[in-house]
Order: sequence, then structure tokens, then C-alpha cells
Amino acid sequence: MQEAEKIWMNGSLVDWHDAKVHVLSHGLHYGSSVFEGIRAYDAEGGVAVFRLDDHLARLERSAAQYFMEVPFPREEMRQGVHGVISSNGLGACYIRPIVLRGYGVMGLHPLEAPVDVSIAAWVWGAYLGEDGLRNGIDTKVSSWRRIGNNTIPATAKAGGQYLNSILAKIETHKAGYAEAILLNEQGMVADGSGENIFVVKDGLISTPPLSAAILEGITRNSIMEIARAEGYDVVERDLARSELYNADEVFMTGTAAEVCPIRSVDDHVIGPPGPITRRLQEVFEDAVHGRDPRWSQWLDYVTAPAPAG
Ligand SMILES: Cc1ncc(COP(=O)(O)O)c(C=O)c1O
Repeated sequence: MQEAEKIWMNGSLVDWHDAKVHVLSHGLHYGSSVFEGIRAYDAEGGVAVFRLDDHLARLERSAAQYFMEVPFPREEMRQGVHGVISSNGLGACYIRPIVLRGYGVMGLHPLEAPVDVSIAAWVWGAYLGEDGLRNGIDTKVSSWRRIGNNTIPATAKAGGQYLNSILAKIETHKAGYAEAILLNEQGMVADGSGENIFVVKDGLISTPPLSAAILEGITRNSIMEIARAEGYDVVERDLARSELYNADEVFMTGTAAEVCPIRSVDDHVIGPPGPITRRLQEVFEDAVHGRDPRWSQWLDYVTAPAPAG
């Protein structure tokens, strides 16, 4: 990874290599952490964080599902995000806030463990590759099922649940594919290892509903809003695996992956990125770069910290 200089830890900026937790931290042993992935862009009016408030709200909701409270108010977290970007002199970057149960308690009842918060930011390019964004990626349905809603709440973005994504990612990577698609316990399409999924058929855009054990993606929500504003119909409904094979277009959305076309699923060729995927990619790119006033409310411009004294 491309290191930066400072990381925000529990309210202060510390040197990148001093941002450490104890080896007996609860979160390390049991996955009891919740986190966010956020992007900032070099936008027309300066460096802007995309949907920062929505990400921080989801972080609070994720924490609450595990009976944790983010020990800093939303505004302080927001300032923390701005602070890591400006103090590291970053422009476009990826931002990773994490809230974890820290050191002091072992065993599975964690409520007495302290809750630690960090925010890091660094430069991270196209997660599925520039070529993937342009030409689409080859994907495979994993043999691992998405963890069910009654096993781990899918709507919480918690550390432990990513073991599921990691197994699917390794499996498909070893088989030579760029990304995994997971079906849920009912055998319907859920999401990618770190992305939501959309299919386009006869001009209609469909994406699995929250009840399909997906993460409630912020990019997913952005694309649904953009698509509707562009005049497309969007429905949330259960999708069968074969609908991926027979689709006119398939694409994935995520903060890291952005809007990434899918070229094939299980060796069924869908084809090069289609016109609706292209259009949504284009509007999304304009939105995140502050070039489309319809979506300017999604951008939180980073203001430099006031000079000391
Ligand atoms: C399993 C899963 N689905 C979907 C997403 C996309 O969510 P977002 O658009 O909020 O990044 C992610 C990314 O965090 C994810 O891990």
C-alpha cells in the first residue's frame, strides 16, 4: 500500500508507523470491529469527500448493531477525516475509519472492552484495475454463500464478516477471475466480495434488495438515484444466477471499485460495457468530481485546518 504520514487515532494525529494497537485487542481476535471505506476526489472546487455524512452514519449504525457506540460525535469524526486528508497533503484518496473493541477484555462478552477509533487515508487507485473500469472484468460465482441475515447482520460493515468475502475472493482469484459474486443462503444473487451488483435487461435496471443479505452500499444508492434521474427504471428484486448470464449488461458498484462493468460471469460472455453502464459511469464520474450540480450535495469539500495560535 502507498503509505501516508499521519493517522488519526482516538482524536490525535500520530505518525503512520506509530499507529498501533495491542496484540490482545478484542477486535483482532474476534473480528469485533466496524469500518468504512470512503473516497475523496480531486473535484472542480478542491478536494471533496464523497457522501461523507452517509458513510459516518452507516459507521454508527454498524457499531450500534454490535452494541458499540462510536465514542466521538459525528462532527468530530468528520473533522478527523478532513484532518487526515489535509495533514497528509492528499488529493484523491481512500479513507478508512475503523471502530474496534480494543485491549483489556478477552472472551466473547465484549461490552467492557474499550472502543478505539482510527482514521487513515492513502492513495488507492482503481480497485479492480483501470482496464477493468474501461473494458469490464471477468467474474465467477463463488462456491461460498453470502453469510445469512440471521447469521451476521449484512447491513453492518463489520470486520468479522469479511472472512466470508476473503474466502470468495481467494477462490475466484485462484481460478483466474477478477472478482467473486456471492449467492445468498436462498441461492439468489447477493453481491460481490466488496461490491453491489446491477443487471440491465431490456432497458430495466435491477439490483438485489436489502433482504438478499447485501451490504446497503452507498455507491449502490448513488447509482439508483442517478439512474432514476437519467430516466431509467430501477427495481430492487431477487435475481437468479441465470439472469446474470442472460443480461444485456451487468456492473458492480462500490466505493473502492466505483462503477465497474462486468464482461463475463462464469465464462458466459455478456460483452463489452453497454450504453447504460457507460452512461451511469459517466454521470457518477461527473458527480464525484463536482462537474454535475445535480449531485453537489454529495460532496464535502475538505477545508484546511485553521493555522495554530
Ligand atoms: C460486501 C459489500 N457489498 C457492497 C459494497 C459497496 O458498498 P459501498 O458502495 O458503500 O462502498 C461493499 C463495500 O464496502 C461490500 O463490502
